[in-house]
Amino acid sequence: MYKKVICTLVLSLCLFKAVLTTERGSLKRFRQNGHISSHVLNLATGKPSPNVEAALYIKRNNDWVLVGRDISNQDGRMNNFLNNSTLEEATYKLVFETENYYRSQNLETFYPQVLIYFKVENNTQNFHVPLVMNQYGYSTYRGS
Ligand SMILES: *[C@@H]1O[C@H](CO)[C@@H](O)[C@H](O)[C@H]1NC(C)=O
Ligand SMILES: *[C@@H]1O[C@H](CO)[C@@H](O)[C@H](O)[C@H]1NC(C)=O
Ligand SMILES: *[C@@H]1O[C@H](CO)[C@@H](O)[C@H](O)[C@H]1NC(C)=O
Repeated sequence: MYKKVICTLVLSLCLFKAVLTTERGSLKRFRQNGHISSHVLNLATGKPSPNVEAALYIKRNNDWVLVGRDISNQDGRMNNFLNNSTLEEATYKLVFETENYYRSQNLETFYPQVLIYFKVENNTQNFHVPLVMNQYGYSTYRGS
């Protein structure tokens, strides 16, 4: 009798642990969210542009709310725009401070800022939004 109770207890414990583990696993998968990153490339030199400042905004009820700021590294890359917040299914805006960047090199530009709007329709995907530019022109594309 005593043995039977212990046996049942151990079995229940094992089952409980199995359920917990599975649940945690599926939660993790469910919460896996995408990322926003950028890359600034200089068309005049064919090289990446370090030290370009940019800010990410999200559109909420027709207002633009700042999410985070970043500055391009030595490879021209930026990865910290989301500032620990979760990617949402919304319209976002990236604002690059191009005039400050060119001024720091004693160069002029026709574009004091570059604004790129984009839509996140599936927040499990990654959104790589590069800026390819020189002083008098720029372009972007949907990377991943
Ligand atoms: C990150 O978010 C916090 C809180 O929302 C804000 O105070 C902070 O300025 C942000 N950091 C950057 C680098 O944007
Ligand atoms: C994100 O959170 C981690 C841990 O709390 C912190 O070390 C890091 O500085 C944060 N990043 C930003 C961009 O705020
Ligand atoms: C969202 O993107 C993921 C990854 O590409 C894909 O597996 C999933 O089917 C997409 N969801 C919708 C609703 O399109």
